[in-house]
Amino acid sequence: MTKRAVVRGVGHYLPERVIPNAWFEDRVETTDEWIRTRTGIERRHFAADDETTASLALAAARAALDNAGLLPDDIDAIILATSTPDLTFPATATMVQAALGMTRGFAFDVQAVCAGFVFALANANALIVSGQASRVLVIGAETFSRILDMDDRATCVLFGDGAGALVLEAQDGAGTADDRGILSADINSDGRFRDMLYVDGGVSTTGTAGVVRMQGNALFRQAVEKLAATADAALAKAGLGHGDVDWIVPHQANIRIIQGTAKKLTMSMDNVVVTVQDHGNTSAASIPLALSVGVGRGQIKPGDLIVTEAIGGGLAWGAVVLRW
Ligand code: UT7
Repeated sequence: MTKRAVVRGVGHYLPERVIPNAWFEDRVETTDEWIRTRTGIERRHFAADDETTASLALAAARAALDNAGLLPDDIDAIILATSTPDLTFPATATMVQAALGMTRGFAFDVQAVCAGFVFALANANALIVSGQASRVLVIGAETFSRILDMDDRATCVLFGDGAGALVLEAQDGAGTADDRGILSADINSDGRFRDMLYVDGGVSTTGTAGVVRMQGNALFRQAVEKLAATADAALAKAGLGHGDVDWIVPHQANIRIIQGTAKKLTMSMDNVVVTVQDHGNTSAASIPLALSVGVGRGQIKPGDLIVTEAIGGGLAWGAVVLRW
C-alpha cells in the first residue's frame, strides 16, 4: 500500500467586479485588440474595496469543503499560496483558519508567486505521504490588483484577482500510476533570474508594498522552455508519457505561452484547460481556479490524468502530475 494525496473537493471564488480590456483604454495607451492578441485576456476580476486575499481564500475554501462534504475541523492543515497577503504577518492562512472556525491543526503560507500553488501542492503531498496530516486544504488566493502600477501598460493589463482551493485527503493506493491522487511533483527555482519579475517594495527595503515590475519578453522565452521541461520531469518521475495525459491545467499567464508549451509537449489544445480569457493572470490562484472551472465545465472527470505547470517570479517553476 502507498499513501496518496487524493483530491476530495474543489472550489473557487471570483470577485463580482469584472474589468473588461476596454477599461484600460481610458487609462494607458493600449487597446482591447492588443491585449487579446498578445495575451488572450478579455477580462479579469478585481476585488471590491472591502475584499482581501483572506476573504477571497475563505470563500474558495468554503466551496471546496462543501464539495468535499467536510467540515473545517475535519482538516488538519491549511496551506495558502499567495504573494499578496493581507498583512506582512501573520500568515493569511491563519486568518482563513480562524474565519472557518477551525480550532485544531496548523496553517501557513507559501510564497512562490505564480508557481505558488504547485509548490503548495508539493508541500501538501509531502505532509500527507509522511503521515503528518490526513486532510489538507490547499488554497491559491491573490489580490494582484493591489500591487499593480496602473500607469504601466506592460503589466497592469495582465493580472486579476481570485481564489481556488482543493481538499486533499490521504487514501491508500497500489503504488502505481493508476492510483488516484498526486503521483509526482517537480519544483525548481533560480534566483539569478529574480529581476525578470518582482515587486519593487518590501518590509525590510522600502517599507512599502511596492508594485509589479516585469521584463515580459525575456520571461516569455524562459517560460515555454522551463514549463515543458518541468512537465516532462514530473511525468518521468511518475513513469508516464505525453500519451497518458488527459488534461494540461497550466498557469494562465498568456495564451501564447500556454499554446507554446502544449506544442512542445506534443499535446493538442483540446486537452488544455484555458481560463486566461476570463481571469487574466491570477498568479497562485490560476491553477486551482482552472481546476475548479474545468470540473464545472465537465472537462475534468474522475480518473483523468492531469499535469499542472506554472512559472513566475524568482524565477520559480514546477509541475505536479495527479490523477483526479
Ligand atoms: O505569471 C508569471 C509569468 N508571466 C509571464 O510569463 C508573462 C510573460 N510575458 C508575456 O506574456 C508577454 O511578454 C507580454 C504579454 C507581457 C508582452 O507581450 P510581447 O509580445 O512579449 O510584447 P513586448 O514586451 O515585446 O512588447 C511589444 C510592444 C512594445 O512596444 P515597442 O517597444 O515595440 O514599440 C511594448 O511597449 O508592445 C508594447 N506594449 C503594449 N502595447 C499596447 C506592451 N504592453 C502593451 C499594452 N498595449 N498593454
